[in-house]
Amino acid sequence: MNVICTENSQILATQLARTLKTTVVDVKYSRFPDGEQYLRAGSLDSETIIVGSVVDNDALVQLLLLIDACDCSENQLVLPYMAYARQDKRFRQGEPISARAVAQALSRGVSDIITVNIHEKEVLTYFSVPARNISLARDIGSYIKTLHLENPLILAPDEGALAFAEQVASAGDWEYDHLEKTRLSGVEVKMAPKQLCAASRSVVIVDDIISTGGTIATAAGMLYQQGAKDIYAACVHGVFTGGAYVRLMATGIRDVICSDTIEHGCSKISAANQIAHAIRKK
Ligand code: R5P
Repeated sequence: MNVICTENSQILATQLARTLKTTVVDVKYSRFPDGEQYLRAGSLDSETIIVGSVVDNDALVQLLLLIDACDCSENQLVLPYMAYARQDKRFRQGEPISARAVAQALSRGVSDIITVNIHEKEVLTYFSVPARNISLARDIGSYIKTLHLENPLILAPDEGALAFAEQVASAGDWEYDHLEKTRLSGVEVKMAPKQLCAASRSVVIVDDIISTGGTIATAAGMLYQQGAKDIYAACVHGVFTGGAYVRLMATGIRDVICSDTIEHGCSKISAANQIAHAIRKK
């Protein structure tokens, strides 16, 4: 068994190969003069683990090409991050179910798929091959332990992320809660923990995705106003669009932590162990 990866997942794939005690196959990537992508994979084993985070349109095309280049092998696809997963239903007449379109395209040429903290579990049903989802919530919890915070409060930015916050908090038996937005006027909103008080406490806001950072920046600003001692933000998928990382640090957040499902300098948590565990369990 070998591991092969797209350009976006080189570090995670290498770490995964090490954990599985195998090697990563070299791939040459380039572009034609008109911008079309080209790639050439090295020689493959009969079984291949393809690792490719779909962070944007180019990454999606590159992953489709890589799967096609591996058509001589039995392939398992690891999809650490799946763009378009948030358009998981038709919210308004005339829209596509983008997650379904992407899932169906990625199912061709692979025997099964592993996702990491997929935005909604229903997305798994859109793949036309068996798909499983793993969660890094406990790994985020283990990382938070290394910060040695005194009695931290783990906060989800909304009720939808409460189960995730609960799993993170279970790593240290910490208290957890979710933020609730209250509209004070036409232009003013207040965000505060639903039940617990953040004053004088270290708070870790946890979510599956940080995209523009808007959700967490607003929450952090208000929690500081309410007397929080220090605030950290942790997520699985650090999309950080439009300078979101800097925007978050500028609010006074002590640190912004993400996993390597999207590779960044602040990727302090690796999905490799959990992915390897899921592959071995197959
Ligand atoms: C939404 O359902 C997700 O869980 C995140 O809360 C959301 O994607 C964060 O977006 P942003 O960083 O743009 O506020």
